Amino acid sequence: MRGIILAGGKGTRLYPNTISVSKQLLPIYDKPLIYYPLSVLLLAGIRDILVISTPRDLESYRSLLGDGSRLGVRFSYAVQEQPRGLAEAFLLGEKFIGSDSVCLVLGDNVFYGQYFSSVLWKAQKQAEECGAAIFGYPVKDPEAFGVVEFDQDHKVLSIEEKPTHPKSNYAVPGLYFYNNDVVEIAKNVRPSPRGEIEITSINNEYLRRGQLCVTLMGRGMVWLDTGSAKGMHKASGFVSTVQEMQGFYISCIEEIAWRQGFIDSAQLWKLGKELEMTEYGQYILSLLEERK
Ligand code: G1P
Repeated sequence: MRGIILAGGKGTRLYPNTISVSKQLLPIYDKPLIYYPLSVLLLAGIRDILVISTPRDLESYRSLLGDGSRLGVRFSYAVQEQPRGLAEAFLLGEKFIGSDSVCLVLGDNVFYGQYFSSVLWKAQKQAEECGAAIFGYPVKDPEAFGVVEFDQDHKVLSIEEKPTHPKSNYAVPGLYFYNNDVVEIAKNVRPSPRGEIEITSINNEYLRRGQLCVTLMGRGMVWLDTGSAKGMHKASGFVSTVQEMQGFYISCIEEIAWRQGFIDSAQLWKLGKELEMTEYGQYILSLLEERK
């Protein structure tokens, strides 16, 4: 399976923070926002990753992440000229996806929870066997998201994009697993009234074909909103609190690459040494102490 991180957009809801910097490069506590969705792909065992961003920002991502060899993965890059909608990721990524299945994660979505790896493995399997796997997560303000509509037997009836009158409080987080059909489906999606080709249209097409699996995430799972300055501040607070209490870091990409066996201990040591001046770097080095 291949992975795509969509890190485009103007980030206008965060102005003036994002007038000259891409939103997904801003920090959530001690690391850039994009590290969080990147961690999701690494946890899923995905090593071929396409980063999509604006013409202005793509170089910044390249200088942050490089070709991926430091983490034992491969990063490719593609420009999204205009914010034409999330589904465009599959058009821009058509060559990159080739004949593979694909996981799309939005560059501003933060996930955290126990057994998350097994949730990701299950979703990959569902997408490969069934067609598409997405999630539902309970929120207080579903009108700001894609929303799942169920019947009395919890059968999914539809997904609505930012409905004025949401039919449930289950939002669809920005993490989607699809088989290869997604490329053809994306080509046939018509722009919505707001002029974007919506990911929700793709999900509804899979639903129409009887090929959409929706897994509900419960209380044990954390999905954080980074759509506003307040949301980012709260997410930073959450990350710092958990890290300080437990001593485990959230979304330390070097740690995940090492635990997944993408890099060896010598490489982890090298990466830690480069960041030794920060607690983040010292944490990486401390992982090697543990193993001794
Ligand atoms: C997008 C999707 C929406 C989804 C949300 C998750 O909304 O269109 O369906 O629920 O991401 O973050 P946007 O953030 O682009 O408003």
